[in-house]
Amino acid sequence: MSRDVEDHRIHNRSQNLPFDEVVARHLSRRQILQGGLGLAALSMMGGFGLGGSNGARAQDKTPLALAFESILGSRTDAVVVPAGYRAQVLIPWGTPLNARASDWHRELVMTPAQQANSVGMHHDGMHAFPLDLENASRRFLLALNNEYIDQDALWAPRGPTQPDGVRPADEVRTEINAHGVTIVEIQRQNDGGWAHVIDSPYNRRITTATPIRLSGPVAGSDYVRTRYSADGTRTRGTNNNCANGYTPWGTYLTCEENWPEVFVNTGERFSDDARLGLPTDRGRYGWETAAGDGEQDDEFARFDVTPGEGEASEDYRNEARTFGYVVEIDPYTQAMAMKRTALGRFRHEGCWPGLVRAGEPLTFYTGHDSRNEYIYKFVSAANWDPADAPKPGSEADRLAIGSRYLDEGTLYVARFDEDGRGEWLALTPGAATPTGQTLAAALNLEADDAAGVIIHTCDAADLMGATPMDRPEWSSVDPVSGEVYFTLTNNSKRTADGTDATFTNEGAALEASGAGYATAPTNSANPRADNENGHIIRWREQSDNRFAWEIFVFGSDAGANDNRSGLTPGNQFASPDGLWYDERGEGQGILWFQTDNSDNAVAEYTNDQLLAVVPGALDSGRGSDSVIDADNQDQLKRFAAGPNDCEVTGIFATPDRTTLFINIQHPGNWPADGDALTQDATQVAAGKVRPRAATVAIWKEDGGQIGV
Ligand code: FEO
Ligand code: CA
Ligand code: CA
Repeated sequence: MSRDVEDHRIHNRSQNLPFDEVVARHLSRRQILQGGLGLAALSMMGGFGLGGSNGARAQDKTPLALAFESILGSRTDAVVVPAGYRAQVLIPWGTPLNARASDWHRELVMTPAQQANSVGMHHDGMHAFPLDLENASRRFLLALNNEYIDQDALWAPRGPTQPDGVRPADEVRTEINAHGVTIVEIQRQNDGGWAHVIDSPYNRRITTATPIRLSGPVAGSDYVRTRYSADGTRTRGTNNNCANGYTPWGTYLTCEENWPEVFVNTGERFSDDARLGLPTDRGRYGWETAAGDGEQDDEFARFDVTPGEGEASEDYRNEARTFGYVVEIDPYTQAMAMKRTALGRFRHEGCWPGLVRAGEPLTFYTGHDSRNEYIYKFVSAANWDPADAPKPGSEADRLAIGSRYLDEGTLYVARFDEDGRGEWLALTPGAATPTGQTLAAALNLEADDAAGVIIHTCDAADLMGATPMDRPEWSSVDPVSGEVYFTLTNNSKRTADGTDATFTNEGAALEASGAGYATAPTNSANPRADNENGHIIRWREQSDNRFAWEIFVFGSDAGANDNRSGLTPGNQFASPDGLWYDERGEGQGILWFQTDNSDNAVAEYTNDQLLAVVPGALDSGRGSDSVIDADNQDQLKRFAAGPNDCEVTGIFATPDRTTLFINIQHPGNWPADGDALTQDATQVAAGKVRPRAATVAIWKEDGGQIGV
């Protein structure tokens, strides 16, 4: 997400203890431990504060070692990878998926039909789904999010138009079709490179216009009745699909992040519209202006959610309430996608599975990426049945399996406590708030209104005392230890210790419906007010909805006074975002993370990047502020850097770990060849090119495993 899409307003006006303040108190507790409080204090921290959380594992095997030299920072129009690696552009925006689309060329004029049959724009989260297990590392379906659009590149060279303030219908249709999800078959070629399979029967687009079913508590409720779906069971489209997830039964999860901006409400907003920051003057691209003559089935009118005079089923006041969800897609079929409303409604970054154990509930972690918002998890009511595990090529009804695990369960929000522990707070109608009300009563809902709690997820989390975080982005779980990693990218709305929190409703905050923080304070022990560099935390689940947590690494430039993890030019980073725990067997793995950074000292040194570290190899916890510290930071290495103006996001590898895939989003002048679909990603353009987001496949020239 670039700054032109990011929502800089703060929507959480609650008064919960800010995360930086919790961090500060936790850190001073680590310092106390260093001073010798000993085992009693260690057990108080759940055995998870003194580092070496992988110690038991590390003792009985030699940890993985990263076998590449950390690359220098780069500020060129090219991808940079370590010596001995190749990097290839794959499925850039506009790549034809089938014969209904014309070939791409640099002067192609995009149309609604061309875009609906081509790869969407601004690649983000992605995941691979094998077609047969034997060839899983050579052939698979790629499910890819297309988060948002660059109108200048889409409409190059003239740019978008709006004669007399009205967007032309076909421009709007094209933009709608550039968003969403791309499913495309990918194959390794005999020369070692990768290519997509044009006209594969699996190739498919799901856009911001594609019919999608609602499921879970909100489906069929009064909250989502519209003129399109009077019974509240369907909507059209998914939007601002940022990060992703996947399920243990072989489906893709795509998550709706900055979707509120495509709507507008010029009348009285619902409190949830206000809490989520729905615009009051114009949608981000003015799609609503195309409503009227020539539109079909209110395809544009639905983006104006201003309530009319009649019934909800006669207008689109509820249209925005059909967005803000985790969406499940079966990549193997053309089945209608499902919005899984039980996983909460907010600006979802992504949704990642926790540990999968036979006979136990499934867990999914998900975060709300806005300043001072929260981390959530969903726990299924059903216990995992290994018979539901994916069988590529089978005719299983994967979305019916999904309904079993994702439509019934409990949504929780996280409270991080000062002592290095935390608690998951259930967001159920009958949950008791800290003031002793039921959550439903505190939200002014009927006692059993589970749909209402989901519609008002953010206010519910405020009321339960959740901890406001520094913009939760990606998560990933070490499948052996169960440690959960989460990136917190940055937060310019953290104010100095001792300042009062401020609220955009200029009134009482915690109880106020539709209210969140404007700013939230740190304390004097935590210098990261105006946290521009972000950090990564990790935690381990305990019993009774408790967990123990610690800071893994703080972002910083190497020269900063506030360089709490001792970073050097070889690994300095800021604004961690994408994250993947790459399990390599026997409990060992590499933690990869990516950045979405700009306008700071790190950005002066390098473009956005991909870093790697082996958590199991870290000797840590000698009382430092974070697991990565001045004594071990050489184990955190820069693996790749992206071209100018991009962010690096989205990540997975083939099962044999011989090719790693990442995405380059919103590059300024890349890839170099304006006509080629596959090309060397490390090549610099000779002049100005029409930029295209793309996937990049990275492999070792010797064919070995990536990173080691
Ligand atoms: Fe779309 Fe929070 O990144
Ligand atoms: Ca509130
Ligand atoms: Ca992101």
